Amino acid sequence: MALWSGRFESGQDEFLQRFGASLPIDQRMYAQDIAGSIAHAHMLAAQGIISAHDADAICEGLASIQQDIQHGTLAFDISGEDIHMAIEAELTRRIGDAGARLHTARSRNDQVATDTRLYAKALACKLMEAALDLRRALIEQAQRSDQVIMPGYTHMQHAQPVIFAHHLLAYSWMLARDHERLLAAYRAADTCPLGSAALAGTTWPIDRGATAHELGFAACTENSLDAVSDRDFLLDLLHACSVMAVHLSRLAEEIVLWSTAEFGFITLSDAYSTGSSIMPQKKNPDFAELIRGKTGRVVGDMVSLLVTLKGLPLAYNKDMQEDKECTFDAADTLIDCLTCATGMIATMTVHADVMRRAAGEGYLAATDLADYLAKKGLPFRQAHEVVGHLVLLCEKRGCDLEDLSLDDLQAECDLFEADALRCLDLRSIVDARTSQGGTAPQAVAQQIAHATDALARDGRLCADLGSGCCVQ
Ligand code: ARG
Repeated sequence: MALWSGRFESGQDEFLQRFGASLPIDQRMYAQDIAGSIAHAHMLAAQGIISAHDADAICEGLASIQQDIQHGTLAFDISGEDIHMAIEAELTRRIGDAGARLHTARSRNDQVATDTRLYAKALACKLMEAALDLRRALIEQAQRSDQVIMPGYTHMQHAQPVIFAHHLLAYSWMLARDHERLLAAYRAADTCPLGSAALAGTTWPIDRGATAHELGFAACTENSLDAVSDRDFLLDLLHACSVMAVHLSRLAEEIVLWSTAEFGFITLSDAYSTGSSIMPQKKNPDFAELIRGKTGRVVGDMVSLLVTLKGLPLAYNKDMQEDKECTFDAADTLIDCLTCATGMIATMTVHADVMRRAAGEGYLAATDLADYLAKKGLPFRQAHEVVGHLVLLCEKRGCDLEDLSLDDLQAECDLFEADALRCLDLRSIVDARTSQGGTAPQAVAQQIAHATDALARDGRLCADLGSGCCVQ
């Protein structure tokens, strides 16, 4: 019999019980539910709403339930409906009437909102930590690749030479912004709805500040109707997850490309590659492809919750029970993707020679040659035109700009002097881009230092937040 069965004459059939249940999904929030109930019981006793004796029995009973769940010796059956009712029913079975007093001045509506917020905070912390690991792997790989010249691309066409470390660090900054988004999601979840009861508040003389404080929330929610209806904090978390998944997908796509025979820029370690069941020679970047592929799931999870919430009137509606599966799926998927990407980046082999050779093709010196003429006073548009002609000449001869002689250059424009040949050297081209955030090794070294500082700062911040209850 369900805990709410008083006004019903007949029971629920098994299929509908299963259809209505969220226990298989929300049982992983047991630690949050128990923490919320313990804080509630402490507050009820402090306010004289239940006796200290009952509160002690409740807290002891809940602690023993938590232990049994952790040891795997307590299995809930589906008649529990959700983790909140399953734990309450088990508590009452163990300690009798005191257990049945726990739900005074509380509804499952504020209870589930509280548990979910605690869980969302813990998930945000776990995601931040996993992203910190990937940032560290990127920075370490960048430190090893700070002299490696590769072609930089626009439109997937050779554009200008860059340092491979510079390219890798771009992803560390994306992840640093993801950290900010996760932090915002954490803060969005950091308000306590407990005490809002079903929707309108309660007649009991509760102390909402006390429960919020005991549970480690920064504040209490202001409006009981909003408190039980709000799932914005999950949307924020799902948005942060979606953007990060898109970042990982872009990185994964580059890894797939770089490990092709056509590029050959990197070789993935055997551990992060798979073979083919028919083609003995194959070494496939399956895991990079999977990271790219799983982005669809994560973005789908965000869309799923947006659509679930759209059109819901205030306050609680059972539709909202659908909020957890997509959130957990997105976070779990992303944590696995981050773990996988971290190992992949840390263990890949970088082929500096191949990258350097590729950078020698595709007229990557063209911009610098045009800049050379512009610095000699030729309007940039005309300089652009002159170099365009030189590129055409190379195409006809089947060579690159580096292969042209000073005579070739001067035949096109008499402003070229001997020092122009230095503009054709990839190393000098790279070294010259000393602007902040640019690709010159000294600018990249500065960037590595900044990225390392940002990593340390975000790591400290994450440790200070503390994730409260663990997440399963
Ligand atoms: N299992 C429900 C959920 O996840 C808990 C809240 C149910 N409240 C209610 N009045 N039926 O949303």
